[in-house]
Amino acid sequence: MTTVRQPEVEVLLDPDWAATSLVADVRRGLSQQPRTLPPKWLYDDRGSDLFDQITRLPAYYPTERERSILQAHAADIAELTGASMLVELGSGTSDKTRMLLDALWAGGTLETFVPVDVSEGTLRSAAELLSKTYPGLQVQGVVGDFTLHLGHLPRGGRRVVAFLGGTIGNLYVEERAAFLGALVDSLEPGDWLLLGTDLVKSSDRLIAAYDDPGRVTEAFIGNCLKVLNESLGADFDTDAFSYVPFWDPRMDRMDLRLRAEMPQRVSIPGADVVFDVACGEEIRVEISTKFRPDGIRRELADAGLAVRKLWTDPDGDFAVTLAERV
Ligand code: SAH
Ligand code: TRP
Repeated sequence: MTTVRQPEVEVLLDPDWAATSLVADVRRGLSQQPRTLPPKWLYDDRGSDLFDQITRLPAYYPTERERSILQAHAADIAELTGASMLVELGSGTSDKTRMLLDALWAGGTLETFVPVDVSEGTLRSAAELLSKTYPGLQVQGVVGDFTLHLGHLPRGGRRVVAFLGGTIGNLYVEERAAFLGALVDSLEPGDWLLLGTDLVKSSDRLIAAYDDPGRVTEAFIGNCLKVLNESLGADFDTDAFSYVPFWDPRMDRMDLRLRAEMPQRVSIPGADVVFDVACGEEIRVEISTKFRPDGIRRELADAGLAVRKLWTDPDGDFAVTLAERV
C-alpha cells in the first residue's frame, strides 16, 4: 500500500501582505474613473464559498464547458507534455484539475502537484483532500499571488502550468501582458501553459451567466465591500448598493459594478481615505474578459509561447489552449 504523503504548504504572502497590498490597491483604484476596487480581495472564506456556488448555477456555463474539454483531452495533454510537475494558478478547490491529475497519474509521469492560491483556507483543504485522493503524489501548495510570485514556484522536471476557469480574463489588459511576461520568464524551454479562456458569445448568454435570479453573483461581488468594512474599518452601507453587470462590446468584457442607490460619504480609516459617492455612481469591482481563438494565439505568441493545441467544446463556448515555452 502506498502511504499518503502529507501536503506541504508554503506561505509566500508575508503577514503584512494583505494590509499593505490591499491599502495600495484601494487607494489606486478609488482614485480612478470609474472608481475601481481590486477583485483579488473577493476571495476571503465567504467569497470562496460564494464562488463555489456560482460554479454550480445553471446559467454559469464556463465551469461545465471547461470540464467537458478537459475530460475529452486530458489524455492528450498527458501524452503531449509527459509532465512530472503540474502547477495550478488560482487553483481554488482544484475540482476540474482532477481530470488532469488522473490522466497524468495514469501516464505514470506525475510526481508533484503545486496548487497556488491567495485564499489560504481553500488551498489548505484542497491540498489535504488531493493528498488523500492520490497517495504517493507530492502535493506542494503555495499560498501566493500569481501577479507577484511566479518567480518563486518550484522548478525542475517537465512542468505544466495550468491557469483555468477563465481567471486570466479577470486581469486588465496591461496586467494580462505583465502576467504572461512574468510567466514566460519563470518557465524553462519545454515547459507548458494550459490556459482556460471564456469565448465571446451573445450578450444575452453572458449577462445571464453573471446575473443569476438567486443573486449569488450579486452577493459575491458585494462581498468586496464587506471585506473592506471588516479589514480596513470602512463604513460602506452595503445595502445601499445594487449590482450592475453589463457587457462592454468595445473591450469584449463583462463589467461587474456596484451602483450607489443613495449618496454617501465613505471613510476607510485603514487606508486613510474618505470619499463621496454620488447617487447613481458606479464602482467597478471586476471585469471578465472574453476571448476569440485568434486573439489567444496572438497574445500567447507575442509572449513567447507556441500554441500546440486549442480545443473548444462543441458549441464553441470556452477554449482550453496548450502552449509550449520555446
Ligand atoms: N481555478 C478554479 C477557481 C477559479 S476562481 C476554477 O477554475 O474553478 C479564481 C481563484 O483564483 C480563486 O480561488 C482565488 O482565490 C484565486 N485568485 C484570485 N486572484 C489571485 C491572485 N492574484 N493570486 C493567486 N490566486 C488568486
Ligand atoms: N474567472 C471566472 C469568470 O470570470 C470566475 C469569476 C471571477 C466570476 N469573478 C467573477 C464569476 C465574478 C462571476 C462573477 O467568469
